[in-house]
Formats: sequence, C-alpha cells, structure tokens
Amino acid sequence: MHHKNDDNRHPDQPPLFTWEFAGDPYPAYAWLREHAPVHRTTLPSGVDAWLVTRYADARQALADQRLSKNPVHHSEAAHGKGKVGIPGERSANLMTHLLNIDPPDHTRLRRLVSKAFTPRRVAEFAPRVQELTDHLIDGFAARGTADLIHEFAFPLPIYAICDMLGVPPEDQDDFRDWAGMMIRHGGGPRGGVARSVKRMRTYLAELIHRKREEPGEDLISGLIRASDHGEHLTENEAAAMAFILLFAGFETTVNLIGNGTYALLRNPGQRERLQRALAEGDESLLATGIEELLRYDGPVELATWRFATRELTIGGQRIAEGDPVLVVLAAADRDPERFADPDILDLARTDNQHLGYGHGIHYCLGAPLARLEGRTALATLLRRLPDLRLSVDPAELRWRGGLIMRGLRTLPVEFTARPR
Ligand code: HEM
Repeated sequence: MHHKNDDNRHPDQPPLFTWEFAGDPYPAYAWLREHAPVHRTTLPSGVDAWLVTRYADARQALADQRLSKNPVHHSEAAHGKGKVGIPGERSANLMTHLLNIDPPDHTRLRRLVSKAFTPRRVAEFAPRVQELTDHLIDGFAARGTADLIHEFAFPLPIYAICDMLGVPPEDQDDFRDWAGMMIRHGGGPRGGVARSVKRMRTYLAELIHRKREEPGEDLISGLIRASDHGEHLTENEAAAMAFILLFAGFETTVNLIGNGTYALLRNPGQRERLQRALAEGDESLLATGIEELLRYDGPVELATWRFATRELTIGGQRIAEGDPVLVVLAAADRDPERFADPDILDLARTDNQHLGYGHGIHYCLGAPLARLEGRTALATLLRRLPDLRLSVDPAELRWRGGLIMRGLRTLPVEFTARPR
C-alpha cells in the first residue's frame, strides 16, 4: 500500500505515529527539528497537517492570531474528510468552549471564567487535594504494589475537578466512568466516547439548572454568577465551559503525575535529591522540578488544532489557507537552540520557559490547579512510599496512542509504605 505520508518522507526520517514512536518520540522530533522543522504529514486519522517542531517557531505559532482555533476554518471541514477536535463535542452541542473559539468571543468567555476560576480559589482548595491524595494512597499502601495510573493518577484529578465544580460526591463515580471511557478510547473508536460525552452533557445541564436554583460556593455557581459589563454566560456556554474544564484538566493531570513519576524513577540521582530536599522541608526543588517534568516529558505532546485563516509562512514554510497546524510542544521543549542539554532531566533548571502549558491567549487556564495537584501528588508519593520502584521492565510499559496527549497506560510499582 502506498501511504500518502511516504511521498513526503525522507529516507532517513524516523517513522511517526508507530508504536515505537509512541514509546520514545524524541529522536524523531530531533530529526524533524533539524531537517524538516515545519513538516507536512498525513496523520493516522487521514487528515493532512503541518507539524511545527522548533521552539522559536512553536512559540510564535501559538500566539499567531492568523491561526484560528475554530474548525470552520479547516479546508477539509467543508467536505467532511477526517475528524478534528474532541470526540462527541459536536453532537453533544459542546463546541463553544475556549479551545474552539477566537477573539472576541474567546476574550469574553475567558474573562468570565477567570472571575470564577481564580488562583485564590485554587489555593483554598489545597487541603482538599492533600486529603484526596492521602486517601488514594491509603487505598493501596498496605498492599506494597499498585498501578499508579489506575489507582492514583487517574482518579485524583477527576475527584478534584468534580469537587471544585460542585458535583456531589455520590455522582462523582459516574464522572470517573465517563472519563475512563474518554481516556481509554481517546485514540480509538469514537462511538463510545461520544456516548459518554453526551451523558456528561445531560448531567451538566441538570447540575447547572440545580445550581441556578440553589447556588453554592462551587465553581459552577461561580460560572453562573460571573458577569462582565452586565453579561453572563448562557446555560449552553456554562455547560461547554464545565466540560472543557473537565476535559482539559483531567487527562493532562493524569499524565503529569504518570510521566513525572516515571521520569523520576528513571533518574534516581534526581529523585534522591528531591527526596532529600523535601525531607529537609525545602520545597523549592519541587517547584522547579514540576516545571522541568513538564518540559522533559509533558502531558500535552501536540497543542490542540489550529487552522490557517489565510496563506502564511512559519519558519520559512508556506502554509495554505485552511491547512491545519499542530504545534509539537514535546519537540519545542527539547530544542537545543533554547534549552541547554535538553535531553537531560535537571529538576533545578531555572532557565525554563517551556511550552508545556502553551503560550499566548490560550495559555492553560488551569495551570495553578495542575501545579497544585502535581506538587501534592509527587511530594506525597515520595514521602509516603520512599523506596518506590517500577515492578516491571521499562520495555514492558505501553503508551497511549492518542495524538494530542502523551501518557502511560499503566505504571506498575512496588514499595514499602510509611505511615501517613
Ligand atoms: C499538567 C496539567 C496540564 C497541562 C500540561 C495543560 C496544558 C495545556 C495546554 C498546552 C493548553 C493550550 C492548548 C493550546 O493552545 O492548543 C491548555 C489550555 C487549557 N487548559 Fe490546561 N493543562 C493542564 C491542566 C489543566 C487543568 C487542571 C485545567 C482545568 C481544570 C486546565 C484547563 C485548561 C483550559 C480551560 C484551557 C483552554 C484555555 C483557552 O483556550 O483559553 N488545564 N492546557
């Protein structure tokens, strides 16, 4: 079979989107940065897109207003070839969220949500994140073994965001199931995911309705209350906002905890240094360390879809109107033109303007919550399970095959637990 991708592939270019690539995409990205920094490829879904791999180009593209987030600008959208975006969002009428819209709508919605989802609200939530973290570790501590993805990294952000939104505890396991469906099948069949998204949509609509009648201190009530020059979110906008907070804040955080823990286990010198610092009550290495883990093996491998609204050039490469552009954050964050020894994990790295949270107007809205969850999760794991180690050969670990996110399917570990 003659795959279109091959037409554009140099004989020395390592293949993209194979299983081997999923395990370690960094050599292929290094090749692209050097030989084809803005590279047109055919994705496994059949959609043609440009991959932007150098740091300088990536940073510029992320802030370029000529690149739209709205899929109506995709030239293929008109004749329906290939799927872009989050499965199920279209049929569930959840398209009008921050990652699909441009100014001025984006500016308005982001300003409104920023009034409810403030760094202060996140900081007030710190004791609850600690409690959730300890509770999850209690669940497997005595056993001496665990799958850190399923038992720890996966449930933590779901319960955290559900609590923040104001989803009552008795309903949170439904979210766990829907989210499980989304993460398991993100790169595969879309039917089941679309059904989960629809159920979530129905639930959120009801919850918004209830919170309108009986507002509380939660984020959904805050979203309903938030107003800007007398303007409020419509119910549909509030539902899409709650959905994107869940969607953007869930698998990303799973992968920060998963990829981060795995990187520490593979770099024992760095991990010991961090454990020593934490034992001495010094949290500064934890703070720079989380940023370094985001740079070194971040949760978001490719930024979300962008579409050229007119012909333009990136890194000297001509891009036609309507072409999709995917900024490869994982490639940019290992660019030796920007980072010294980019393939080395250095938790104390301070010159670290990584793109793991994006850049420009779509810069991650949830970064303060992600940092809180990441710091709490890793510090508590290292404190309570000090001799944490992998219980399988690293070669046996499998990565999820999705396009946008980078994360492990499982992370089997063993340890001797210390009391709380
Ligand atoms: C370690 C965890 C996280 C990482 C690495 C991450 C990364 C990112 C990135 C790269 C973007 C920009 C995407 C683009 O421009 O294409 C983004 C946007 C966003 N993130 Fe995060 N994120 C994380 C956690 C969270 C959390 C916990 C939340 C909320 C609960 C969240 C909510 C959002 C939202 C709403 C946007 C869209 C902002 C906009 O379009 O204006 N994220 N995130």
